[in-house]
Amino acid sequence: MTNPVRVEPVRVGLVGVGIIAETHLAVLAERLDVQLEFTVDPRPAAHVEFRGRTPSHYRDLALALDDHQPDLVVLATPTETHAELTELTLLRSAARVLVEKPLVHDRAALAGLYDLDGKVDVCGRVFTAHHFAFSPEVDWAAELLADHPDWGPVTTITSAFYDPYVLRGSEAFASYVSSWTDSGVNQLSMLTRFVELTGLTSAQQMDGGASAWCTVGFRSQGEIGSARLRSSWLTGSSSKESSLVFGRSGVEVWIDHTAMTGFAARDGELLASFGSDGRTARKVAHYRPLYANLLSGRPDPVLGFDAAATITAIHHTVPRER
Ligand SMILES: NC(=O)c1ccc[n+]([C@@H]2O[C@H](COP(=O)([O-])OP(=O)(O)OC[C@H]3O[C@@H](n4cnc5c(N)ncnc54)[C@H](O)[C@@H]3O)[C@@H](O)[C@H]2O)c1
Repeated sequence: MTNPVRVEPVRVGLVGVGIIAETHLAVLAERLDVQLEFTVDPRPAAHVEFRGRTPSHYRDLALALDDHQPDLVVLATPTETHAELTELTLLRSAARVLVEKPLVHDRAALAGLYDLDGKVDVCGRVFTAHHFAFSPEVDWAAELLADHPDWGPVTTITSAFYDPYVLRGSEAFASYVSSWTDSGVNQLSMLTRFVELTGLTSAQQMDGGASAWCTVGFRSQGEIGSARLRSSWLTGSSSKESSLVFGRSGVEVWIDHTAMTGFAARDGELLASFGSDGRTARKVAHYRPLYANLLSGRPDPVLGFDAAATITAIHHTVPRER
């Protein structure tokens, strides 16, 4: 009888112990192939318990990297800190980095990461948590599209993402920058599951950055289509929906990202539908498959640096006046 091969756990460092870190911790705790080595957050109250013990806690990532050799560093910090902390991790450790979306807050920060290529393996080590691309209703709709080339190209998409961040006031801007910075990247990464994005065709930010209205061009089955993206923080509750129209065949796919449900219809006929047993919290339903994919050894391209660079370029294009 041969002895089973002992696989060493993936040593993880979690940087930023705020709202989304709770989901990372919940999903990481389920994975027996993972060990949480340390956490980092300047807030004194940010110590966490992980499977009954408290990992070492630091106020500063550089100090944590002096003491540990993590395999994976997860950055769940405010958006404007992502690029700087990614660079620090790349230069001061051999770890891969899973950066919360968006990877960077502007194009200069992306250029800074490109500049590191050659010194460190940026493409092989940097991954972005484009979690909406992993949500169950998006997965369902992507499979439906793949199974129905007969529906023809997607011609129009409308997507509306609302978050109740008006209630968080200036804190929301400090963590997420603007509704377009925060939701726009979720909408764009989600759309990459259905169509090939070609570029931003118009962009309007309003309500001091708390709302946005943007249009994006795409290709589907070789034909050109257009997506309308609305996002806003001026609400008391969260609601996120997208609709994909196949103009040739008259089919429409409607996905509700809040309820994690969907249906496809043509005129009065229901063609397909999707729901769940309601037992999995929404963010866990995104991050569970995301981590399974990342740690599989063959991460999906939507997590990779090239996808993040393409999405960043589209996200931050200033369309020409027409
Ligand atoms: N909240 C969500 O639902 C959600 C979902 C997906 C992605 N995200 C992304 O995750 C990131 C964090 O969002 P959040 O909602 O958790 O924000 P948050 O403000 O709740 O948490 C951020 C935490 O990072 C800490 N921090 C700040 N600077 C730091 C540094 N230099 N080193 C270590 N820790 C630092 C803060 O003290 C805070 O505890 C954002 O980029 C956001 O876009 C958030």
